[in-house]
Amino acid sequence: MIQELFSLTGKVALVTGASSGLGRHFAKVLAEAGAHVVASARRINHLNELVTEINTMNGSAIASQLDVTNQESINSLFEKTVESIGLIDIVVNCAGIAETGKFLEVEDSDWDKVFEVNVNGLRWVSREATRRLIEARHPGVIVNIASVAGIGAAPGWAAYATSKAAVIHLTKTMATELWRHDIRVNVLCPGYFPTEMNKAFLSSEQGQKYVERFPPRRTGELHELTGPLLLLASDASSYMTGVVLSVDGGHTIRLA
Ligand SMILES: NC(=O)c1ccc[n+]([C@@H]2O[C@H](COP(=O)([O-])OP(=O)(O)OC[C@H]3O[C@@H](n4cnc5c(N)ncnc54)[C@H](OP(=O)(O)O)[C@@H]3O)[C@@H](O)[C@H]2O)c1
Repeated sequence: MIQELFSLTGKVALVTGASSGLGRHFAKVLAEAGAHVVASARRINHLNELVTEINTMNGSAIASQLDVTNQESINSLFEKTVESIGLIDIVVNCAGIAETGKFLEVEDSDWDKVFEVNVNGLRWVSREATRRLIEARHPGVIVNIASVAGIGAAPGWAAYATSKAAVIHLTKTMATELWRHDIRVNVLCPGYFPTEMNKAFLSSEQGQKYVERFPPRRTGELHELTGPLLLLASDASSYMTGVVLSVDGGHTIRLA
């Protein structure tokens, strides 16, 4: 059955950055596909609202506060989850921050902050998840969220774009090393989807002019990430690893 191919029934899925934007949407999608979702981020009140929403839709989810830059916080989430629900089969690494700044101007503190969340946070969460899966000889799936900014150069976003390029390359490295443990690692590269992170830019005149240059002349809608996310999270992609999947309305293929 085609639906079974995308079913996540019986799986436990951790989503980081689930308190808003893309991560919030991904948590709902995974729950709708049958996974028990562990929704994580720092803003627990947002997570609690999300969990209520998922449970009202007959899905299954818990809220778990997490700061991906704090390894104790990561360990504690995994300890508590394994105790109460079991091993985490699927990780969607969506927590991320963006700071603007050109190469010559970006503050070191901003550079470090962006790398701490976008690269180290993702690495630490993935490392904890995969160590546990390998020890239990259990298959797993990791979906990293990078960005089109990690594929093409994004002037004025030196730290953010470089951090996302690092996520893409880390994904490929992880994919080659973890395949023998039956753990697949792929990376989704969204184009522009209006969220807290970019709504000020997108509603500015400069932002609107920028969007006009995308082939569809519009930003993406969250539901347009549903299929790609489910593909990478489910057995439908059982022979895919290290794949960089852009969902960007052709943003990265347009030269002029
Ligand atoms: N929107 C887009 O157009 C777009 C395009 C390409 C890629 N992306 C990527 O998609 C991801 C989600 O972005 P978004 O657009 O949905 O932005 P958003 O609404 O600002 O969401 C960012 C999420 O990251 C979480 N987060 C930030 N720092 C954290 C930390 N230290 N520990 C745990 N969670 C943390 C935030 O939760 P708390 O503040 O509650 O911790 C929030 O849930 C990011 O990785 C972003 O780079 C977005």
